[in-house]
Amino acid sequence: MSEGTRASGAGEGREVFGTRLGFVLAAVGSAVGLGNIWRFPYQTAEGGGAAFVIAYLIMTFMIGVPIMLAEFAVGRRARLSPVGALRSIGGRAWVPLGILFVATSLLILAYLSVITGWAIRYALDAALFGFSAGAGDRFTRISAGGPAIGFHLVSIALTIGIVLLGVRRGIERASLLMMPTLFLLLIGLAIWASTLPNAAAGYRFYLAPSLAEVLDPAVLQGAAAQAFYSLSVGMGIMITYASYYSREENLNREAAVIALADFSVAFIAGLVVFPIMFALGLSEEVGESAVGALFISLPEAFLRMGSVGRIVGVTFFMTLVVAAITSAVSLLEVVSAVLMDETRLARRQATLLAGCAAGLVGVAPAVSIATLGVMDQLVAELFTVLGVLGVAILAGWVMRAPEEELRLGASPLFQQIIPLALFLLRYVAPLLVGWIAWISLRGSLAALFGGQ
Ligand code: PFF
Repeated sequence: MSEGTRASGAGEGREVFGTRLGFVLAAVGSAVGLGNIWRFPYQTAEGGGAAFVIAYLIMTFMIGVPIMLAEFAVGRRARLSPVGALRSIGGRAWVPLGILFVATSLLILAYLSVITGWAIRYALDAALFGFSAGAGDRFTRISAGGPAIGFHLVSIALTIGIVLLGVRRGIERASLLMMPTLFLLLIGLAIWASTLPNAAAGYRFYLAPSLAEVLDPAVLQGAAAQAFYSLSVGMGIMITYASYYSREENLNREAAVIALADFSVAFIAGLVVFPIMFALGLSEEVGESAVGALFISLPEAFLRMGSVGRIVGVTFFMTLVVAAITSAVSLLEVVSAVLMDETRLARRQATLLAGCAAGLVGVAPAVSIATLGVMDQLVAELFTVLGVLGVAILAGWVMRAPEEELRLGASPLFQQIIPLALFLLRYVAPLLVGWIAWISLRGSLAALFGGQ
């Protein structure tokens, strides 16, 4: 453990993670969240099931992990938050990419917090009153307007509270406590779901691929966006967290652990959601409101299961809140860290300012679920993809000797993997992600200018 490690040079006096476990769990906490439990199942359903899962797996390990390593290398070398780190590694021309990171983080934080607010509301209601009939109508009532704004603000306040406590006492401690709880809860739910009648049909949809679909550009595009979003890459989070991390630790091992944990949680979430949907014949309803899929189908399922369903339901929504808050914390940390590094603001002021900004921006998606859907699509499918492309070029082609940063603290096994990661970063990622960014950009422009 690197208790009390202090960085030299640019980062003199900078806060640091106290332990290796703290860093890993904080990064896993960022990666694992609504993206895994809410977004992954509905994207998989939209993307046709198993083909999407395979494309997602490939994108996670072939592109996502090298990009995460790139962000780690940039952040740990510069010991600065994204704007300063990009300036120091690439020069002034890279500052706009840092600003894109901050904007993306703020936007994601704003609408994720609205969804977290729904989950808080569902958990509370279920604990106090149980689930009631008409889940679709209920979702419509709860998901937009006054109640949604109220619970969104509760969720932002919780996030601000944790970030205010700082890297060690806030982020690290919250993650240490929350992430293991989340894993246990989810595994329990997956085992429970496997006992449902007709679970097999759910597994078939989820796990039996048609290979032709894996190569469909739309599936690849959606899977890539989902992989980046889920790993929290392409928006400066991993740059920020690595800037607080010791040079004695093995970044390669951490990236592997984080990606594996992230993939596993999404995969297990699918093992929870699909059997439930199929067991209860809910797949039609989910098609109607993709964004609300989880919040419509599952309460309906929990209701039909009587008192067991109530306990499982409360547990499920609590899990969702825990997962979401640790991601929100990382997003708020990016914006706060940039404010702290670029201005004279202290942590307290920076966090409050950034948190209030996200609270305000979040009113728009809290008022209209259509706005929420558009924000999600725009940031996940365009901004994040552009961010990933930028990171690949910066770390692969502009940064001086990224491999040196990755070799620090790396064990012999991981030393051997670094050249492969760099090859993927330099050649495969820019080409593949460039192509995906092009498709996304074309799609977004067409949608904006009346091509819908
Ligand atoms: N990775 C998180 C998830 O899968 O829920 C969500 C998220 C966090 C996305 C942070 C983006 C981000 F920067």
